[in-house]
Amino acid sequence: METAMNFQEQIKQGIPSVLPQAKAYPADANRAPKRKDILSVDEKQLAVRNALRYFPKEWHQELAVEFAKELKDFGRIYMYRFKPSYHMQARSISDYPAKCQQAAAIMLMVENNLDPAVAQHPEELITYGGNGAVFQNWAQYLLAMKYLSEMESDQTLHLYSGHPMGLFPSSEDAPRVVVTNGMMIPNYSQPDDWEKFNALGVTQYGQMTAGSFMYIGPQGIVHGTTITVMNAFRKVLSKGEKPQGKIFLTAGLGGMSGAQPKAGNIANCVTVCAEVNANAATKRHQQGWVDELIDNMDELVARVKAAQANEEVVSIAYIGNIVDVWESFYEQEIFIHLGSDQTSLHNPWSGGYYPVDISYEESNRLIREEPEVFKTKVQETLVRHAEAVNKHTARGTYFFDYGNAFLLEASRAGGDVMAENGIDFKYPSYVQDILGPMCFDYGFGPFRWVCASGHSEDLDKTDAIAASVLKKIMADSPEEIQQQMQDNITWIEDAKQNKLVVGSQARILYADAQGRMEIAKAFNDAIEAGEIGPVVLGRDHHDVSGTDSPFRETSNIYDGSRFTADMAIHNVIGDSFRGATWVSIHNGGGVGWGEVVNGGFGMLLDGSDAAERRLKSMLLFDVNNGIARRSWARNEEANFAIKREMARTPKLKVTLANVVEDDILNKLSF
Ligand SMILES: NC(=O)c1ccc[n+]([C@@H]2O[C@H](COP(=O)([O-])OP(=O)(O)OC[C@H]3O[C@@H](n4cnc5c(N)ncnc54)[C@H](O)[C@@H]3O)[C@@H](O)[C@H]2O)c1
Repeated sequence: METAMNFQEQIKQGIPSVLPQAKAYPADANRAPKRKDILSVDEKQLAVRNALRYFPKEWHQELAVEFAKELKDFGRIYMYRFKPSYHMQARSISDYPAKCQQAAAIMLMVENNLDPAVAQHPEELITYGGNGAVFQNWAQYLLAMKYLSEMESDQTLHLYSGHPMGLFPSSEDAPRVVVTNGMMIPNYSQPDDWEKFNALGVTQYGQMTAGSFMYIGPQGIVHGTTITVMNAFRKVLSKGEKPQGKIFLTAGLGGMSGAQPKAGNIANCVTVCAEVNANAATKRHQQGWVDELIDNMDELVARVKAAQANEEVVSIAYIGNIVDVWESFYEQEIFIHLGSDQTSLHNPWSGGYYPVDISYEESNRLIREEPEVFKTKVQETLVRHAEAVNKHTARGTYFFDYGNAFLLEASRAGGDVMAENGIDFKYPSYVQDILGPMCFDYGFGPFRWVCASGHSEDLDKTDAIAASVLKKIMADSPEEIQQQMQDNITWIEDAKQNKLVVGSQARILYADAQGRMEIAKAFNDAIEAGEIGPVVLGRDHHDVSGTDSPFRETSNIYDGSRFTADMAIHNVIGDSFRGATWVSIHNGGGVGWGEVVNGGFGMLLDGSDAAERRLKSMLLFDVNNGIARRSWARNEEANFAIKREMARTPKLKVTLANVVEDDILNKLSF
């Protein structure tokens, strides 16, 4: 019955009227790991009861048994039987059955996030990060797509952690979809609360861009890493010095860390990236994301010395433990300009970080059979790791934490990574030193767009439009932001040849409020002129305003407010009434459940006057909300940027901070 229908009919049908056949799991799928068995017997019954809400009574007997088995086998009820048989991918916007184009654009983005070429565990509706979900189960997907196909331009679909609560009357200027993911009463935001309430089917972890349908494959992380590495070199090199032949030493060639060598090549340095998992390293090598593969330390040392001497641009994967590399390079007196780490230390005890002097296979055995021994080995390794880094930094290496909790876990293990005050770490995070002051405080962040026609020629045209807009703005821009402008012009000019598109025809670049608004307006004009099809705008949540995350995006906020989440909440509410096509607010993206609140938006440009009005109003707020907050926190760069924006925008009036002299405070007695 299901297969006789075409794609559009299947979308409009939603949950099928005839119970589909149970399916065998595809053998080649990359399945999500089995989740923790955390529910009591009563709670398991509740989880099945909850799941059956989506289906008619006649099916309950059969589905109850099946869902109970899914819960037992996988720790969650994914409702595999209801996964549609059509291929999941971003189609052209005109292929979707819809009464309004905004709804069709959202369908396109949803499907892109579930495309097996894009998504990490597509059978379980997980886009990236192991648990970044688009929906909790296939019934939610089917219902949401049906609602979108029926939606008129004065209705709004409310999604509660993937669950489509329904279509509500609203207005043409309201968002078509409002997404919340994992929003909890604050006291119920421990990691096991996610395990429990997700297993019950009442919440989900949306990561940053998965649950907001804005993930565009590895391009986003390559760009962010490139910007970080380029700017880190600028911090350490003297004027006129070039990164060629200078070493960036790091670890991890996994999901996101695999972007490091590619970014290092774009930043023109020598990248040495250690990876204990030979399969992960080989995969990245075969994909062309790293140039050379070496599994012998003597060979690595010789190769790196040659690359230094010849001032090469090359990326080298070392199959082995990162600690061995830090230690050997110290003995061999190889100078490392930049050092960092992207092992998965947000997950230290279950394979995110491998101990030194133990084989990969033996480590995996210890994780399963002797977890306490494994934990001790990890902690011993972290102490050694920190010691080796410290020896290099004493020689002048610049080391930064890459948002993977390296410093946090090294400190917990007893490693020597604390500053003298005993509160801060010895080394900065990449946001404290690089992305915060150089990008976010000026409003530069990960703006992105998707050409909804699906035509690569449209992407080429938008690349050219964006480059010409940025060049024009750069000609009159202040010195403070010239470098960022130039980096992003170079990036967009090289973007096509770097072959970064996976899934939808998408592009990312860092731009400030003015850049984002002018690029968007130029796209809208080109759509109106019939030069390109509609364009979906969006951004990563990892941005100026979207995310309150005390150890990452807002780690360079020093007025004590980095543990608050007002900015992210204002961001999503403010965007929603200024014209976003959809808005989303999540708990946990990037650094973990309970650790961050992050918000984002999507906006369809269709060439209309209404789209122009909306883009101007919303993008101005979307960026300047965060700059205002950063300026109030006394960040100088943000203070500069917000004053400049107020001069450009008379209706913007932001409260500015008066800065007290240290002398006055130092004389106080408490
Ligand atoms: N701040 C950012 O913008 C940003 C960006 C990307 C990733 N991250 C963080 O970086 C970490 C990595 O992300 P991922 O998606 O690549 O994770 P991942 O688990 O896919 O990859 C990590 C890799 O590190 C390897 N590894 C572990 N211990 C090692 C050791 N001692 N020596 C050498 N290799 C080792 C693993 O085998 C694995 O392949 C995460 O904690 C993530 O949150 C932060």
